[in-house]
Amino acid sequence: MAEALTLDKPRSPRRPAARRSNFELYSWLFMRISGLLLVVLVLGHLFIMNILDGGVHRINFAFVAGRWSSPFWQFWDLTMLWLAMIHGGNGLRTVIEDYARKESTRFWLKMVLYVATVVILLLGTLVIFTFDPNIPAD
Ligand code: HEM
Repeated sequence: MAEALTLDKPRSPRRPAARRSNFELYSWLFMRISGLLLVVLVLGHLFIMNILDGGVHRINFAFVAGRWSSPFWQFWDLTMLWLAMIHGGNGLRTVIEDYARKESTRFWLKMVLYVATVVILLLGTLVIFTFDPNIPAD
């Protein structure tokens, strides 16, 4: 009788049940909190870059140099970079866990994702902090 009531496990058949760790709970919470912060950061960024005061037509080297001379915009862009990359990376991790059925496919897709995420995070952070507005004219 009990057997007749059992349901198939959700999502991909090979996904092991989470045990002994609250990682997925915190990851779920992180997606909600980072999502809320990203609404402000990304919509603010889009509004400033594309609509306000001439929008995209006024963006050039001098504009970027002016913005990044302010610690406020450096911090804004740094926060947006880290939250978007970790949020997007963690979201894609979920997509891979849900859809990749072969263990090796799942492993390699996640490896590519993690390497790409770390490279972009490091490069972006390096650019924000080492940007030099005084490039010689010649
Ligand atoms: C603008 C504000 C954003 C909000 C409010 C938001 C909100 C969310 C939430 C709540 C989830 C979890 C959904 C679930 O667990 O079922 C999610 C998933 C996801 N987000 Fe965002 N997000 C935002 C921006 C972004 C950005 C900028 C990226 C890319 C860099 C991104 C990529 C993803 C991906 C790949 C997933 C996984 C989708 C899935 O599980 O099917 N999101 N988002």
